[in-house]
Amino acid sequence: MTSERKSIHGQWSTRLMFILAATGSAVGLGNIWKFPYITGENGGGTFVLVYLLCIALIGIPVMMAEIMLGRRGRQSPINTMKTLAEEERRNVNWIWLGRMGMVAGFMILSYYSVIAGWAMSYIFRTASGVFVGATAEGVSSIFADLVSDPEKLLAWHTIFMAMTMIVVARGVKHGLEVAIRFLMPALFALLLLIVGYAMTTGHFMQGVSFMFTPGEISNEGILDAMGHAFFTLSLGMGAIMVYGSYLPKGTSIVQATMFIAAADTIVALLAGLAIFPIVFANGLEPGAGPGLIFKTLPIAFGQMEAGTLIGTTFFILLVFAAWTSAISLIEPAVAWLAENKGMNRLHASVWTGVAAWFVGLGTIFSFNIWSDKTWSIPYLFKDYTLFTTLENLTFNVMLPLGGLFIAIFAAWLMRESSSRDELKTYDWIYRLWRILLRYVTPVAIIIVFLKAISII
Ligand code: PFF
Repeated sequence: MTSERKSIHGQWSTRLMFILAATGSAVGLGNIWKFPYITGENGGGTFVLVYLLCIALIGIPVMMAEIMLGRRGRQSPINTMKTLAEEERRNVNWIWLGRMGMVAGFMILSYYSVIAGWAMSYIFRTASGVFVGATAEGVSSIFADLVSDPEKLLAWHTIFMAMTMIVVARGVKHGLEVAIRFLMPALFALLLLIVGYAMTTGHFMQGVSFMFTPGEISNEGILDAMGHAFFTLSLGMGAIMVYGSYLPKGTSIVQATMFIAAADTIVALLAGLAIFPIVFANGLEPGAGPGLIFKTLPIAFGQMEAGTLIGTTFFILLVFAAWTSAISLIEPAVAWLAENKGMNRLHASVWTGVAAWFVGLGTIFSFNIWSDKTWSIPYLFKDYTLFTTLENLTFNVMLPLGGLFIAIFAAWLMRESSSRDELKTYDWIYRLWRILLRYVTPVAIIIVFLKAISII
């Protein structure tokens, strides 16, 4: 029966198309902006190790589960969960998994667009040549000027959100293929080039040892590493599930997942190897926070041969990478509005985009006029702005929780015959996947949560 179900939104034309789109969703600001800055904040070494373990033991099995559920359900995550819960004779409340994911995607998009706006403004800053020969202080003060100006941030945030709405309105497939097929490899090549520059700073090995020598890590650091594994692979909120719902039947989910996870991890590690040597060579702080890449990479662009051209191209490609991720953040909501509220894609994406734009204002103000408006909840968090609250709530709570429930549904509640039929892989891979998802993933997520809130 399931093999006859069709998505009303259409299908990817080829297997490659799905892999490109899912890689486009996974590779984004998470790899280049977020990974280096949270690695820096959490002291490097052990953090990177825990992150890699989380990718292997939690991220990969959950990604396979999400694609599988999506392809079987063939609808928006909310309706997919409803259909599958009925089919597997489970409680209909499983639709809450889809609902939470939709809200998480919406919340992430609201701040993702603001940060993508920073990257957009850096295209023009770099092109203008202001970074040529600039000192570390000069570069930091240019960043400080940008984030203290709400009007500028608002303009860039608006442009980026409009770009996202336009693509989503036209249907995610148009244009995506060209964008990803050519621009991703180009981004990869530029990252290699910047790593090459980092090797000439005289501090390359210090950067490597910061990233790979195990040291201390706090319980919150472990939660960050796990949350990041979900965030960077776009898991736990239905983005990959909805892309899976457009996947033709014959495609191997296992192979696709391995490719996406490998590409995503390599890009993140390269970004770290590019940035940390520059941090140490210029006496900067690895824990400088969300501005880290904007305070480091321009120094490199200001010093290297053809740096203005390379830097400008780099930020253009970074914006593209962010764009292909952003469209997957609202796709679950848009698919749902189109299925259930009778809206066409244009209306659905405009509604969602405008609402996310509005919430994004809170993130913009968190860096300037509301920067002193912070709150704390004992045992949970301290002095959070609206931006850090949204960031941590989605990243450290909603995505891992989504992943936990996906694991429970796919590995405990779905019949083995259904998941075997969908995954169609070697028996040992299937068994390993099921063991990881049944035991390792849920236990790891629960322990990390409880430790982070100091219960155990
Ligand atoms: N994976 C994206 C990144 O690393 O930038 C962010 C993201 C996209 C998270 C889509 C979640 C999502 F559903």
